[in-house]
Amino acid sequence: MTIVQLTDLHIGATHAGDPAADLRAAIGAVNEQRAGSAPDAVLVTGDLVNDGRPEQYAEVTALLATLDAPVHVLPGNHDDRAGLRAAFPLGALEPDDTPADAPYRWAAVIAGVRVVACDTLIPGTDDGAFPPEQADWLDRTLAQDASTPTLVAMHHPPFAVGVPILDAMLPAPGERSGLAAVLARHPQVRRVACGHVHLAAAASCGGAPVLTAPSTWRPQFGLDIGDPELRILDGPAGYVIHALLDDELVAHVRPVDLRAG
Ligand SMILES: [Fe+2]
Repeated sequence: MTIVQLTDLHIGATHAGDPAADLRAAIGAVNEQRAGSAPDAVLVTGDLVNDGRPEQYAEVTALLATLDAPVHVLPGNHDDRAGLRAAFPLGALEPDDTPADAPYRWAAVIAGVRVVACDTLIPGTDDGAFPPEQADWLDRTLAQDASTPTLVAMHHPPFAVGVPILDAMLPAPGERSGLAAVLARHPQVRRVACGHVHLAAAASCGGAPVLTAPSTWRPQFGLDIGDPELRILDGPAGYVIHALLDDELVAHVRPVDLRAG
């Protein structure tokens, strides 16, 4: 079982580089993966588009349709819940009467791994949230299947990466503690997969390993720990392969060779 994680595509951004070309390069690399590395599914962990606009969702939907695997998504701070829901309907994964702007979250078993996707949005801001209501939802959802190896996914990571501008957008400390308490109760969670920070970093939360994936869009954030200035680097873009091997979910961070695009 292999799930590829793409994140922070930022389709529609015009202020840096060419996010559509960068996504095409990432998709080309994913589609070239062979044998057990060929993905059973692709999970996009937010910021699919830059400004939440319908035409941007139309563009990203067309680009992602060129993947040779089914696509699942969750929202980031640059997304619009209603726009995301219209472009990527949750169908049977949520009640029919769910409002268009309700939290976009779901759980599904994908090729032997249960994926539980959370929604860390606060509409209108770049900040992340993990309020008690979401922690209760995650707790109930994880309790429904304690045996299947599980990947929990969300846009904002629950740990500071050391870049102050990014760390200021984290869910509040009390909310992160609430998430940690839930994860500690469900040892079937093999990993928490996040995006948002445009760099690869690993830590833990409630005993579960947490990994942030690099963005497919070339701008990556520099790692000048503690520096209040945010330095923008030109790549390398990348993505993550999550492979279930011997009941362990192994994460490989893969740089994108842009020459392939
Ligand atoms: Fe983000």
